[in-house]
Amino acid sequence: MHALREPLENRNGELYIDGVAAAELAARFDTPLYVISERRIRDNYNRLSKALSRNYEKIRIYYAAKANSNLSVLKILETEGAYIDAVSPGEVSLALKTGFPAERILFTGTSVRNDELKFLSDTNVTVNVDSLSQLNRLLSRAVPDLLSVRVNPEVGAGHHSHVITAGKHSKFGVWEENAIEAYATAKKAGVKRFGIHMHVGSGFLDVEPFVLALEKLLTIAKRVHEQVGVEFEFIDVGGGLGVPYKPEDKELDLTLFFGTVLNLFKRRTAEYGLGKPFFCVEPGRYLVCDAGVLLTAVNTAKTTPFKKFIGVDAGFNTLVRPTMYGSYHPIVVANKLNSPEEETYDIVGPICESGDALARDRRMPKIAEGDLLAVLNAGAYGFAMSSQYNARPRAAEVLVKNGERMVVRKRETFEDLLTGQQVAEWLR
Ligand code: LLP
Repeated sequence: MHALREPLENRNGELYIDGVAAAELAARFDTPLYVISERRIRDNYNRLSKALSRNYEKIRIYYAAKANSNLSVLKILETEGAYIDAVSPGEVSLALKTGFPAERILFTGTSVRNDELKFLSDTNVTVNVDSLSQLNRLLSRAVPDLLSVRVNPEVGAGHHSHVITAGKHSKFGVWEENAIEAYATAKKAGVKRFGIHMHVGSGFLDVEPFVLALEKLLTIAKRVHEQVGVEFEFIDVGGGLGVPYKPEDKELDLTLFFGTVLNLFKRRTAEYGLGKPFFCVEPGRYLVCDAGVLLTAVNTAKTTPFKKFIGVDAGFNTLVRPTMYGSYHPIVVANKLNSPEEETYDIVGPICESGDALARDRRMPKIAEGDLLAVLNAGAYGFAMSSQYNARPRAAEVLVKNGERMVVRKRETFEDLLTGQQVAEWLR
């Protein structure tokens, strides 16, 4: 069985999440239900923050809000002192609403519209431009005091081709020669303060590609410094820190990872005369993934000549990662934690597509109708990527903390399926 990590607990075969019984949450708030642990988010943040500060004095953690933009999650990270990586005006507005001041928000969008650029200038958040096009359109509107450029470090990494965001095939970032041009243009236009940024991809567990990309990023920074005379206030190395999903995945050794990375960073910034810029990271998954559990109830057990199917009430409308990326999520039977794994099941949802499975050929204890499953590591890109497909209202989210629980996003109803819709007048 998947080893449970803090704050998940096995009490006589029953799953508890920071002191709250999964069964009680399901009974009280219904399923499918996302449960988020405040403590785990804070622990993840503090572990990362310590690993960084141990190696360098000027660090910043930008939480990638796309992973989970629930207001309570944002608030928890706001109180920890995090910054925000926002990729859309919507995320900027959620961050502002939570109480993040504009100075603590960095916007890294792609294919950005002019009205969105206007919104960003009006709200005064820092913009990290993704193309010369975006830069020129931004500057023609207003010249910001501080600006960053996302460069393509030519090396990507990630758990799936969909989430590798650098290298030859990537739409993201500005290549070296264009980056030099971008800084020259911005400086000439009157921008005074600068940052530089990369993001190689999402969900890597190895340091090697990251180090190669960082070398490239710093070489570009050096050229920009020498040729354009730019001093960097911050160097942002993006997000992507992986977490273990499969039993055989190793946890990222933060001490080793940032020991290596920050050694290189300090050496090169000194060697290249880049001064002492802030070292910024942009984790999404690392902070929230293992803080989230998706509870889903079993309604159907079906045996065919080929398979044993367990039908649950969460499909890819609720958690799309297994369908979209073939991702593995640990799943436990919340009311049978002590039972041996003696069956092999496909765990399938209510969506009318064959790709709708949370797990395939998974070894599990014997499961019966009425059992409660807990899909672990569901805190990142879980609710955030959920939809109303098949006209299913989205799940609720509950925050737990040391035996306390509170609904932080209510379950949608059929009313929500009607939001903004009307039957065309001529059809009435
Ligand atoms: N910074 C930038 C510019 C990003 O594009 C991303 C993620 C992050 C930071 C945070 O990456 P993280 O630390 O969470 O890996 N839906 C996919 C992940 C897509 C990530 C997109 N960009 C998944 O479920 O695996």
